[in-house]
Amino acid sequence: MKQLPVVDLEAITRELAESGMRVKVLWQEGGSLAFVARGREYRSEFHINASDEVTYMIKGRMDLHYRTPDGKEEIAVLHAGSTNWMPPGVPHSPRFPPDAFALIVERERQAGEIDKFHWYCQSCGTFLHEETFVVSDYRADPVSQAYRRFFDNEQARTCKTCGTVMPNAMAAPQTAS
Ligand SMILES: [Fe+2]
Repeated sequence: MKQLPVVDLEAITRELAESGMRVKVLWQEGGSLAFVARGREYRSEFHINASDEVTYMIKGRMDLHYRTPDGKEEIAVLHAGSTNWMPPGVPHSPRFPPDAFALIVERERQAGEIDKFHWYCQSCGTFLHEETFVVSDYRADPVSQAYRRFFDNEQARTCKTCGTVMPNAMAAPQTAS
């Protein structure tokens, strides 16, 4: 049997802060996927996936925006030391700054499962764009790749209703993410 992994969360947060990385995968095996994430200041989209999610706030504060089945936006506020559970399929947008850290535990994706990102116009709320991606190896950071495709596409960022263009939040120099 493999040695059971024991993780020092404080050490992981220091490693992320010093390296500039956004995500550190702790494990992805045995049906479980766990990672520590730093906030992304440009995060505005809603993530939809087939896994439930447990969030534990290690440091700082997260405003966990989510959408109810009738399209209403709600916010769950997590402070350091608090945790919550979210059922599968809930569109959610975890907004927290780069100096805040969260432990996220999901289940490993099964073959054929597709994760989605949905962006909405920040002026009028119209649906803007969907990016899809497969989480076969979370260490490849599929999330940053999906952001890049969206922000590189000005047409996708332009609202068909009111014409507002969501700014390219990744245009400024970024540290490795
Ligand atoms: Fe709009």
